[in-house]
Parts: sequence; structure tokens; C-alpha cells
Amino acid sequence: MKPCSTTIPRIFPPVYPASASQPPPAIPDYLQKVYWWAYLHPNAVRLFERQWLVNLILWGNFARLRDATLAELGKSIEQKVLQVACVYGDFTQRIAARLSGPGQLDVIDVAPIQLDNLRAKLAPDARVHLHQQDSSALHFPDASFNSTLLFFLLHEQPEKVRRATLAEALRVTRPGGKIVIVDYHLPQAGNPFRYIMKGVLKLLEPFALDLWRHEIASFLPADASFANLDKTTAFGGLYQKVVITR
Ligand SMILES: C[S@@+](CC[C@H](N)C(=O)[O-])C[C@H]1O[C@@H](n2cnc3c(N)ncnc32)[C@H](O)[C@@H]1O
Repeated sequence: MKPCSTTIPRIFPPVYPASASQPPPAIPDYLQKVYWWAYLHPNAVRLFERQWLVNLILWGNFARLRDATLAELGKSIEQKVLQVACVYGDFTQRIAARLSGPGQLDVIDVAPIQLDNLRAKLAPDARVHLHQQDSSALHFPDASFNSTLLFFLLHEQPEKVRRATLAEALRVTRPGGKIVIVDYHLPQAGNPFRYIMKGVLKLLEPFALDLWRHEIASFLPADASFANLDKTTAFGGLYQKVVITR
């Protein structure tokens, strides 16, 4: 079993003990330069950690998209789930509430402030483990998880990081397991959000329009091996859910 870099211990017992041989990952450049105001600054966490605001940012679709992701895991989660990156609102709490029997949830994020914020939102639960890791270089062994979730992460990442994140998600998910991706998508012609969101994303999220121009499948490794890929869209095409069965 490989040790992980830094694990947030105490109430949440670590799966992998912190190791001096693996220092915590550096905060990626794009997070520091583009998204500091959303995820890294203490005021960002204070401002955005509001369910209604996250819902407003998603034009009222937060619960619908969250529940579509949860539905892929089933009502009772008796498997090992990896959530790649923290999410404002009650996304993780809802997953944790469905854990039963041998069910276990691991959450990684590269930003300690996000892990601290998540820890404060969660009830102490020995089945939930938080780790400081970079999505593009996970420390989990191959085939560690039954399901891996990527909720609105890929659009924030430059293409090289996005490709590495997807490759890592495939690597750590067991054959037969699922990778569930929810993110932005090119809205249908005639959807007014096609014009509104183009401006918003261009201004605030410089890598996001990649997901309008290209299918998520196009960012998978050329030699990716998986059994099935199913894409559905919502809200006139503005959002997509891609489920890859390994
Ligand atoms: C999942 S995304 C956005 C989710 C959604 N917009 C929300 O409401 O929170 C935001 C998270 O991704 C994390 N993140 C971004 N790049 C990362 C990376 N390379 N590795 C791990 N976490 C990353 C950020 O620190 C942040 O906590």
C-alpha cells in the first residue's frame, strides 16, 4: 500500500498515514492565478460556502445535478467511493449519509483550506477520509475504488491537467466500476444560456469552454480501456453527466 502525502487526521482516521517521504502537493498554478478568489482565499470559502449561492451559480440546478450523481451510486453505498475535489454545499454530506456496511468515502483536494472547510461540514465518521492530493497525480494504488466522482472539476483545469486527472480516475477505478463526471457542456442552439454563459465562462473560467468544444471522451488517454461511456445532458444542454464504466 502506497503512503499518501498529507492526510487530514484526527476525527477522520487516515487510510494512508502521512509520510515525510511524500511532501504535500504544490497548489497548482491555475488555482493560484485563476481561481484564488473562489477556492484559496479565506474570504472565498466564507462567501461561497452557501448552498443557495452554489445553486444560483448553477442556475438552480445544484440539487438536480448532485442527485443525478448520487443516483449513480445507489441509495445505499456499500462500496469504496472517491470524490475528486471538494464541492461547496452539501454534496459530500449527502454521499456520506448513504454509506452503509463496508461503504467508505475518500475525498481528495489539493487545497488544505478546502479540506478544512469540508471537515467542518461533516459529522465525525470513521468511514470518511480526507486527503491532500493533486487530482493529476493520485497516491492511491490502481483499482482502489468502485466509483470515482468528478463534480465540476474538469472545466477548471488546463487541458494537460484535465487529461492527467481523467487518466488517474481511470487508473484508480476498478474494472466494472464507474467514473461519474458532471460538468459544463455546449448548450443547444436557442438556449439563452448559450449566450449568457459563453461570456461568463470566458471572463471567469478560461479553460471551461474546452468542454463546449470537445467531448470529455476526447480528453481520455488514447489507450484508455473501459466497457462503456454514457453521456446525458440537462438544462438545455448546459450541463452533462458522463458515466464511464471501467
Ligand atoms: C470541484 S471544483 C468545483 C466545484 C464546484 N464549482 C463547487 O461548487 O464547489 C473545486 C475544487 O477543486 C479543487 N481542485 C482544483 N484543482 C485540483 C487539483 N489539481 N487537485 C485536487 N483538487 C483540485 C479546488 O481546490 C476546489 O476545492
